[in-house]
Amino acid sequence: MEDYIKRAEKVLTPNYRRQPVLLVRGSGSRLWDSAGKEYLDFGAGIASSNLGHSHPKVVAAIKDQADKLIHVSNLYYTEPQLELAELLVKNSALDQVFFCNSGTEANEAALKLARKYSRDKGKGGYEIISARNSFHGRTFGGLSATGQDKFWKGFEPLLPGFKFVDFGNLEQLKALVSKDTCAVLLEVVQGEGGVWPAPPGYLAGVRKICDENGALLMLDEVQTGMGRLGKLFGYEWAGVQPDVITLAKALGNGVPIGAMLARKDVAEVLQPGTHASTFGGNPLATAAALATLSVILQEKLPARAEKVGRYFAEKLDQLKESHAAVKEIRAVGLMLAAELKVAKCERVIDRMREQGFILNLTQGNVLRFLPALIIEEKEIDRMLSALDRELKVLDPEAK
Ligand SMILES: Cc1ncc(COP(=O)(O)O)c(C=O)c1O
Repeated sequence: MEDYIKRAEKVLTPNYRRQPVLLVRGSGSRLWDSAGKEYLDFGAGIASSNLGHSHPKVVAAIKDQADKLIHVSNLYYTEPQLELAELLVKNSALDQVFFCNSGTEANEAALKLARKYSRDKGKGGYEIISARNSFHGRTFGGLSATGQDKFWKGFEPLLPGFKFVDFGNLEQLKALVSKDTCAVLLEVVQGEGGVWPAPPGYLAGVRKICDENGALLMLDEVQTGMGRLGKLFGYEWAGVQPDVITLAKALGNGVPIGAMLARKDVAEVLQPGTHASTFGGNPLATAAALATLSVILQEKLPARAEKVGRYFAEKLDQLKESHAAVKEIRAVGLMLAAELKVAKCERVIDRMREQGFILNLTQGNVLRFLPALIIEEKEIDRMLSALDRELKVLDPEAK
């Protein structure tokens, strides 16, 4: 492994804190490293491989499409792109789709759309309000909308016109929104920020404030979409109709693809030449995403995520009762977190990996569980009994 690390240090930019493991193969919720060691994956490539690794229907769709046509530009029509857009529209509250390659690009498209819509419709305001502790990506637009200044350091000045409110606080939003606001951009559950679900009634309240002020409601479903929260899209829980949503991560089950979906009268301001992406929605990526979405729908994976997620959350609640080291459990569907009371939680991730469990850590002390939606209850039990042992070691520090 040292040899790989040395080679990587030479040629890869040092912007990731990688774990010392070389992964070579995956199937379902399992991963294998170069030494043949098996892992149960509770990260799914950060909420991306919702069907599990190398799902046979996605693999077949990629192989079939690669044989036929990998890429042409958006100057032409292709079948998988059109079929994917039709399926997304049919299963969402939105009318039209712009395809891109990542979550930050989907948000970038939404931010540009909001400004253009405001100008074209004669309002003219260009301010965007998002939430503190949010995460919307790393391009200058996504970064400017991200309400965590640790990500801004060294990159200022950011774009003008971005303002922040506390997530869940309608009074602050009411006070900040003005004729200059063109959109409000929010996650349904703040993921990277530590798994903080929107409080009940919050998004409906935001919808009302947006309507009263002629601002678009744009929901970043990059992490929460595609069944993870127990519905195909997270906004379905809140019973609101957003004007724009953004998707990526699990849309292609690991194949890079992003999408921005919008109401027709909003989307129509994106006339030819206003926005574009060379690879956005190319045949290979959309064939993978079409297979992914078809499996999610056919196998009713959102309902499964809700059921298994409830089981997982109950088990985590029990774990909290027996460990001083656990501060709080937060969960919606298969997006779950155990916030710990101790520092330096990377050691938990390392110890769990050594025992064959891949976990994710966010905000330094929040264990985030984002398994494939096909994870089984007995696999959850196996991971939690290992975690139980690790937490026992940490408990004395928390007392
Ligand atoms: C809610 C949210 N939005 C946007 C992004 C950025 O997505 P990407 O890394 O694909 O650019 C992420 C990534 O974690 C995310 O969680």
